[in-house]
Amino acid sequence: MAKKTLPFTKQQLEEIIRQYPTPFHIYDEAAIRKNARQLLAAFSWAPRFKEYFAIKATPNPVILKFLREEGIGADCSSLPELLLAEMAGITGEDIMFSSNDTPAAEFQAARKMGAIINLDDISHIDYLEKHAGIPEIISFRYNPGPLMKNGNTIIGYPEEAKYGLTKEQILQAYPIMKGKGVKRFGIHTMVISNELNADSFIATADMMFDLIVELKKNLEIDIEFVNFGGGIGIPYKPEQEPVDLAYVGQGIKKSYEEKITANGLQPLRIAMECGRMITGPYGYLVATVLHKKEIYKNYVGLDACMTNLMRPALYGAYHHITVVGKEGLPLDHVYDVTGSLCENNDKFAVDRQLPAIEIGDRVVIHDAGAHGFAMGFNYNGKLRSAELLLKADGGVELIRRAETIADYFATLDVPATGLQAAATKSQNNL
Ligand SMILES: Cc1ncc(COP(=O)(O)O)c(C=O)c1O
Repeated sequence: MAKKTLPFTKQQLEEIIRQYPTPFHIYDEAAIRKNARQLLAAFSWAPRFKEYFAIKATPNPVILKFLREEGIGADCSSLPELLLAEMAGITGEDIMFSSNDTPAAEFQAARKMGAIINLDDISHIDYLEKHAGIPEIISFRYNPGPLMKNGNTIIGYPEEAKYGLTKEQILQAYPIMKGKGVKRFGIHTMVISNELNADSFIATADMMFDLIVELKKNLEIDIEFVNFGGGIGIPYKPEQEPVDLAYVGQGIKKSYEEKITANGLQPLRIAMECGRMITGPYGYLVATVLHKKEIYKNYVGLDACMTNLMRPALYGAYHHITVVGKEGLPLDHVYDVTGSLCENNDKFAVDRQLPAIEIGDRVVIHDAGAHGFAMGFNYNGKLRSAELLLKADGGVELIRRAETIADYFATLDVPATGLQAAATKSQNNL
């Protein structure tokens, strides 16, 4: 059973909190770098393997920058994400732009930056041509629909998912693009999310390699790269095991040799766009216990809430909780661990066995490094909290400050509200 540990002692954490009050997310740079290297090592056999980190998981330019140093690019799905990649020095074809329901301005920006555009629908060919022009390289997102039987709780069954082109459309789309002068082709899919079964990723590769062979044999389309998307799960529960990346890499290698090499289609570049598995386990939401409440159940209320991490409320997801300094104590109390939103599902944990908790205890919520801060929102006037980096050299750096009331009121600076002065005044009075 994997033990959930922390990259800092209670004393170190108290020192950090003296400078940066809770709640905040803190990311462990050394662990993220090490983890990223493990993914790259699993595919070291693959010609020019590329990981495009899914910015949506952890949209912070400081993190993107050190991932770039490891040779990692960016998967972007919006204009701000393209700009974040640019801020981190990730440029050109080190960016894949995989969006859906895309506005023209975003296609134009992706074209201008030289990013690889991954189209989500066959109708987007005309839309792209009209608004941004046809690039030299293009990719399409494949949705196998009923051809793939196993679904997954986050993405669902492929035929129920809004993403990608059907098989029939894929077979039409590439020749259309070839006719429009496209010289280089990629193909993409993402049919699973937060998946811990290593064989699922090998099955996805099998499916894509077969399609690539079919595109070559029947339509003379040479696919330059295949992107299997993200979706590698992480062990949120202590009893779960991480995905064996070396096993996945070797399984995909075998399939590559049997399908791609054997059919003379080498070299085919392999890409992934993992987010969660890169940063997820190495980001922690740190909070303080503000209140205890005993009614029909026992509650501990934190200064963090689901605006800091909405996965438990959204998916009923398990996130492990450590009460700092009480790691060795018996888990002989049962609590719901709550935030302060006017929403009854604002709970980080329900009926969780924990040590006796006191007001003022520091609570760390694990595996909050991906799809955590990123999914934050301002409901109930909650302000987004800070992000910190525990640097590889042991220091701690602020990589995003906490929002202020002035930030919250910033978009109300329109004539109709007459609130600009009031907002400033209330900020000054704090
Ligand atoms: C197109 C696409 N690529 C990559 C990812 C990253 O997935 P994960 O963080 O689970 O690896 C997502 C997640 O939503 C996605 O939609």
